[in-house]
Amino acid sequence: VQDGSLIPRFGRARRDPTLAVLEGFHPLKHALRFRAELQEVVCRDQAALEALAGQLAPDLLEPMRQLARPIAAEVFEKLAPLPPNTGVMAIASRPHIEALALLRAPRQAPIIVLEDPRDLGNIGACVRVAAAADAAGVLSTGSHDPWHPDALRGGAGLHFALPVARLDQLAALEQREGPLLALDPEGEPLDPLTLDPGSLLAFGTERHGLSEQLLASADARISIPMRAGVSSLNLATSVAAVLFAWRLASGDAPRRLS
Ligand SMILES: C[S@@+](CC[C@H](N)C(=O)[O-])C[C@H]1O[C@@H](n2cnc3c(N)ncnc32)[C@H](O)[C@@H]1O
Repeated sequence: VQDGSLIPRFGRARRDPTLAVLEGFHPLKHALRFRAELQEVVCRDQAALEALAGQLAPDLLEPMRQLARPIAAEVFEKLAPLPPNTGVMAIASRPHIEALALLRAPRQAPIIVLEDPRDLGNIGACVRVAAAADAAGVLSTGSHDPWHPDALRGGAGLHFALPVARLDQLAALEQREGPLLALDPEGEPLDPLTLDPGSLLAFGTERHGLSEQLLASADARISIPMRAGVSSLNLATSVAAVLFAWRLASGDAPRRLS
């Protein structure tokens, strides 16, 4: 592949729902650790990439050395609106996720449902903490693609560590296995000891919270207690608070990767 043809190739990959564009070292690192299928890995400077891998992810030094190919700096700069400082970008295949099958399957850990999240960095931060807590998946409604390169950047590529998919219709939640719990500052205070691990935990949009439709179909409304005068937590922060309250209370912390 000629360097110049990479510019339209990355452009097409951004619009292709079967592909994921990884901008920077951390998304590539997690894609490799969680066995993504890489189609193209390009870097600005091979020696600099190997030095970074040696420092931050020695386990991946060899695969990165074999996969990454150096390209002209002026081409690299045109592969993303904001080329990453770490000087590496990649195209990977997205895993195929059946959102409905995920909803219907019995599970040992909650699924995070994000209703119409507006901020791609926030979506990524939710995926990242859900992966860290070993949640069963992240489903999002609304117009944003949870696999958008900016969400992958915010999630440090941890989309490859658990199922992440768009849910076309809120009504699909009716087919769920397990209770639907709406996280809402007006709900009953969270008791992590009684949280059903097979729950779907629904979080609302950044500005307006959960819709009436979702609240009406929920089995319960739960709040994260806050100091008086604070109206709400940030979306990803609230996902983190609930998942780790549950994890720590159950005494079943996720294991470290060997
Ligand atoms: C930035 S908040 C939305 C704020 C919105 N004005 C509201 O009142 O819901 C985004 C989402 O985070 C969750 N959230 C934030 N703080 C919360 C809290 N203290 N208790 C429960 N959920 C919370 C909710 O799901 C909320 O819809």
